[in-house]
Amino acid sequence: MRTFDEYRILVEKRLPAMVPAVLYHARTIHDSMLYSLTAGGKRLRPVMMLAACELAGGDIQVAMPYACAIEFIHTYSLVHDDLPAMDDDELRRGKPTNHMIYGAGMATLAGDGLLNSAFEVMINDISGCPADMMKSRILAAKTIVEGSGVNGMIAGQVADIEAENAGETASEELLEFIHLNKTAALIKASIKAGLYLGGAGPELHKAMDEYSSQLGLAFQIADDILDVTGTTEEIGKPVGSDEAANKLTFVSVYGLDEARKKLHEHSQLAIKALDEIDGDTEFFRKLAEKLEKRSK
Ligand code: IPE
Ligand code: IPE
Ligand code: MG
Ligand code: MG
Ligand code: MG
Repeated sequence: MRTFDEYRILVEKRLPAMVPAVLYHARTIHDSMLYSLTAGGKRLRPVMMLAACELAGGDIQVAMPYACAIEFIHTYSLVHDDLPAMDDDELRRGKPTNHMIYGAGMATLAGDGLLNSAFEVMINDISGCPADMMKSRILAAKTIVEGSGVNGMIAGQVADIEAENAGETASEELLEFIHLNKTAALIKASIKAGLYLGGAGPELHKAMDEYSSQLGLAFQIADDILDVTGTTEEIGKPVGSDEAANKLTFVSVYGLDEARKKLHEHSQLAIKALDEIDGDTEFFRKLAEKLEKRSK
């Protein structure tokens, strides 16, 4: 297994070239997609996919197209999340948001373009591989498509919008639904797709499903906390955006101290899930510890 940065550098190298070329009259979409894709970002999801593939004993080159695809999908979700009709934010990854540069119409299309390009990258890979190697790739693609779909990330975003100004009527159950879907679903899909591509067995899948649900929940709790306690310079996005939009978050429901406690609990539960695994899970243990303490 490699370090987070080693995986990240491998992803960064491949990512821009994976964006499909477009014809002259559509060139703005290419610029707009690349703008958000290369603006920075932690690359957590593709890195986790490559690491999960290696944990299962696979070759990361097999997982690379799927790792890029999930970063396309994640980036699309951010471009749309920032739109005036959604969270209405002006800064992302330390730069003006896509719609601030290209306008809301083009930013909407850039998001659509990134999502569709993710499908293209995966389908091209599947259709170009020998028949006996297709199954794991199809399962990886299915996992990614479902995790980002209307019973995954999109479901969370739907509930997130509807829960704005929910006030007293908001329930803890709804809050957990939002976080498990808008954020944990894609994190879970990243790991699961990597496991499929590495050829993992059912026990590894089971333990890592638990790890990634807990980690995904913890990750969004940390995001909620950083929206209050972070600095714009470090998080690369506006501070206080959730309060301004009356979002339902772990901080709005539980307060900062309790939210921090829950962040720790879920991080610990993620680490505990690794006990069930026979292989070298050091990378994932360190990752959970690092993400609990993250400042960006
Ligand atoms: C931000 O995700 C949106 C959430 C799901 C919390 P990241 O914090 O992974 O954003 P980047 O990719 O590093 O910009
Ligand atoms: C974003 O949640 C989740 C997705 C983009 C799917 P947030 O709205 O809290 O993310 P940030 O804080 O804008 O990155
Ligand atoms: Mg949002
Ligand atoms: Mg947002
Ligand atoms: Mg947030």
